[in-house]
Amino acid sequence: MEKPEVAVAPVSVIHDSGALVGSPLVAPSGSMLYQAPYGLRPRMGKKALSVGVIGYGYWGPNIVRNFHQQENSSVSVVCDQRPEALAKVARAYPDMEVTTDIQSVLKSPSIDVVAVVTPVWTHFELAKAALENGKHVFVEKPFTSTSAQAEELIELAERKNLKIMVDHTFLFTGAVRKIKQLIDAGELGALYYYDTTRVNLGLFQHDVNVIWDLAPHDLSIMDYLLPNRPEGVAATGQRHVNGVEDIAFMTLYYPDKLIAHVNVNWLSPVKVRTTLVGGTKKMLMWNDLENDEKIKVYDRGVNINTREGVYDLLVSYRSGDMWAPQVESTEALKLELSYFNECIMQQKVPINDGQAGLRIVRMLQAADESLRGRGAMVRI
Ligand SMILES: NC(=O)c1ccc[n+]([C@@H]2O[C@H](COP(=O)([O-])OP(=O)(O)OC[C@H]3O[C@@H](n4cnc5c(N)ncnc54)[C@H](O)[C@@H]3O)[C@@H](O)[C@H]2O)c1
Repeated sequence: MEKPEVAVAPVSVIHDSGALVGSPLVAPSGSMLYQAPYGLRPRMGKKALSVGVIGYGYWGPNIVRNFHQQENSSVSVVCDQRPEALAKVARAYPDMEVTTDIQSVLKSPSIDVVAVVTPVWTHFELAKAALENGKHVFVEKPFTSTSAQAEELIELAERKNLKIMVDHTFLFTGAVRKIKQLIDAGELGALYYYDTTRVNLGLFQHDVNVIWDLAPHDLSIMDYLLPNRPEGVAATGQRHVNGVEDIAFMTLYYPDKLIAHVNVNWLSPVKVRTTLVGGTKKMLMWNDLENDEKIKVYDRGVNINTREGVYDLLVSYRSGDMWAPQVESTEALKLELSYFNECIMQQKVPINDGQAGLRIVRMLQAADESLRGRGAMVRI
């Protein structure tokens, strides 16, 4: 009889709940195999991961649809406090279980992953309870209300060998992935600045200001794209309508003279989603509202020459070609949740893990402190 290539259980060995668990091993053939932890037995006809989603308001339906459509996960239950939200689930997915009882989701032995898609101030308690009950968690942005809460969740997940992914959706868009390629390939040269505008009329939030609502998108993109972490932030803003800042400007200072600016505003008459990135070699503009040619790369800039013996700097302007790279259009959440499932099944650390969520929360907290200090720079 031939010996098996590796003495571990094959991929088809899955947990009672349907989850593939255990550390991945690479067989000599190159394929991934999974060690069978205690109590595992094969279950046919089920997707690998069973997901419970908490919160079915504005964003929840996107999370439910995308988890449910993955090859290796399905949503088994949706929980919301509002019966009218659950009625919507029942209309869209007649076979899906719905409940107002959070405990039944958190304690269900058949659920592997809990997605927290509720307002920011509820994230910590819900994610903590999910982790305590042995569930991997997918948490909406921003991760938590304070950095101390984020640190506690990270520690808890590590202790229990569970994954946290924070929904930094934009990292999975074709545009951000393309800009990452351009920056990493040195196409733009050393970066001078990152300047971004995310403004529209509403949606007014009541529990967080415009920075906590809109800037996590930009800060998570910058965290992913830029070569260093910010050293300090200065933020100014104003409250006009409902007691929280509805317009704000953040300036972030990075090593090597890189500077970033984030403009967020719920009181703009038009929607603008534009980012400029300038470097020593080239510059780009990303307009996320464009259907085609979202990104334009400009071979423009300045050359500085010093003549020997002459005190003046000579600045000459370079104005070369513009080109628009191809940008992939697959739905970002689809890619993100596929990647999350892969991270769970193959024991990978997600790029948007709890640590990434914590870095963004630290920037947000520093921005709040700066707002209170009338724009004084706060070190991060
Ligand atoms: N990644 C993105 O692009 C993106 C976009 C929008 C919102 N979000 C994030 O998603 C989260 C939710 O935002 P939203 O706009 O969908 O909010 P929402 O208010 O529209 O929906 C939240 C839902 O959660 C339910 N809920 C609240 N607390 C609950 C609890 N304890 N148990 C059960 N249900 C509860 C509410 O009844 C509501 O239906 C926020 O963190 C927000 O920042 C992310």
